[in-house]
Amino acid sequence: MRLSVARANALTAAGPLVAVLVDKGRSAELPGGELGERAAGLLSRKAFVAERRKTHVLHAEGRGGPRALLLVGMGKAGKVTAEDYRRAAAQVVNEAAALGANRVAVATAGKIRFDATTLAAFGEGAVLAGYRYPRRKADTKPPASVAVVTTGVRGAAGLLKTARATAEGTNLARELGDLPGNICTPRHLVNTSRKLSRDGGLRCKIYGKKDLQRMKMGGILAVNQGSAEDPFLIEMDYKPRTVKRTVCIVGKGLTFDSGGISIKPSAGMEEMKYDMCGAAATIGLMQAVAALKPSGVRVIGIVGTTDNMPGGRAYKPGDVVTTASGKTIEVINTDAEGRVVLSDALHHATKFKPDAIIDLATLTGAIVVALGHEVAGLFCRDDGLARRLVKAGERTDEPLWRMPTLEVYDEAIKSRWADIKNSAGRAAGSCTAASFLFNFTDGYDHAHIDIAGAAWGARKRDYYNEGATGFGVRMLYDAIANWA
Ligand code: BES
Ligand code: MN
Ligand code: ZN
Repeated sequence: MRLSVARANALTAAGPLVAVLVDKGRSAELPGGELGERAAGLLSRKAFVAERRKTHVLHAEGRGGPRALLLVGMGKAGKVTAEDYRRAAAQVVNEAAALGANRVAVATAGKIRFDATTLAAFGEGAVLAGYRYPRRKADTKPPASVAVVTTGVRGAAGLLKTARATAEGTNLARELGDLPGNICTPRHLVNTSRKLSRDGGLRCKIYGKKDLQRMKMGGILAVNQGSAEDPFLIEMDYKPRTVKRTVCIVGKGLTFDSGGISIKPSAGMEEMKYDMCGAAATIGLMQAVAALKPSGVRVIGIVGTTDNMPGGRAYKPGDVVTTASGKTIEVINTDAEGRVVLSDALHHATKFKPDAIIDLATLTGAIVVALGHEVAGLFCRDDGLARRLVKAGERTDEPLWRMPTLEVYDEAIKSRWADIKNSAGRAAGSCTAASFLFNFTDGYDHAHIDIAGAAWGARKRDYYNEGATGFGVRMLYDAIANWA
């Protein structure tokens, strides 16, 4: 979807659709022409009251001007949030799609005015609403272009460019999440990463099974033992001319998690195609980074990917595996496989001596119980890094809630037979999982984000209605762009 800044005459010119965001109050300044005058009449007669998220469409009777006008209510002007603009944009795009309009011009009226934050949010919402799951014929088509009429927002074009790239990265993450496990295989993640790296000028390195054996990545290899698919470690590297900071993003890429020998109950197991959403967010972020080329921060995206299957060769409860770090893991439960894969992927990240390691993982059912589907759990022993990420999530409306990282959780995963065990049972399941991961980052600043709830199943909000959310892409890009 193209996003652009337009002049006011875009509102009266011929075209399929014009949308006007309007506050609840005595609004004026609607575009002229037949539709603008009729809309002004509706508002002044209070036949349409611009409550938050209320919309109204008018169709033209005359010729020459826009064929339809959409009024989007924003509620009381003083109370409008960035998220309201995201949703308003989605309402505009959804209406355009329903009308078959391939382009739309957008304006504000009354006390509604774009500023830098809300213009960016509007752009994001528009592009996010344009996401369509691939290979589904019945879907309506989103408009190819959205032109926003605004003056007085400095750097408007640049803001829209960032909004578009981060939302497209999010949409890529959604697509990878929504695709089923027989199509979105580890190899599919490899191919997607290779392609975007080639297109965007990132260095991309793929480690196959032989490489993983050479690197002694016993964690990934153990989880992969029962699988018919090859495992991979993916590394994508964005390196600006001057590097002031290096950040590694690490994603859990379980393209399907059956639980393995500790097999899951069959009800709902199909949802475990989403167990690669951490990897998807990492890949989507790298696409945005490649498009926007932020200055000063080297960003390395790392994905460990396999599926987790039972079978004669599968790893078993009681097995002890040696990871690339040299640390050994006692396997209590083969369904606690994400942390076993991440042990090697996180250790790999330390090789870059980064200023921060941030992992995204659909790691525990317990975080869904604790926080639900709208919030991700943040585990971080460094206050500065934690604050940075929480702030970024506030700006992008991808909320992070900080969880405890106490020493008692380190105690809980001590093993009689190995350095640590991969499950300490149900109590504080998300916290002991985080403690496990901290063992593999060798003292580097490390934030673990458990997105098991937030990666899919969130409430409807116009710009996504079902399936994967792409949670984390916009938040991470915001954090990186503001690292300084
Ligand atoms: N992928 C799951 C976590 C998950 C569960 C994500 C439900 C989303 C919804 C993970 O691999 C897993 O199975 N975790 C176990 C760990 C337990 C065996 C210690 C869990 O949460 O039950
Ligand atoms: Mn599992
Ligand atoms: Zn899993």
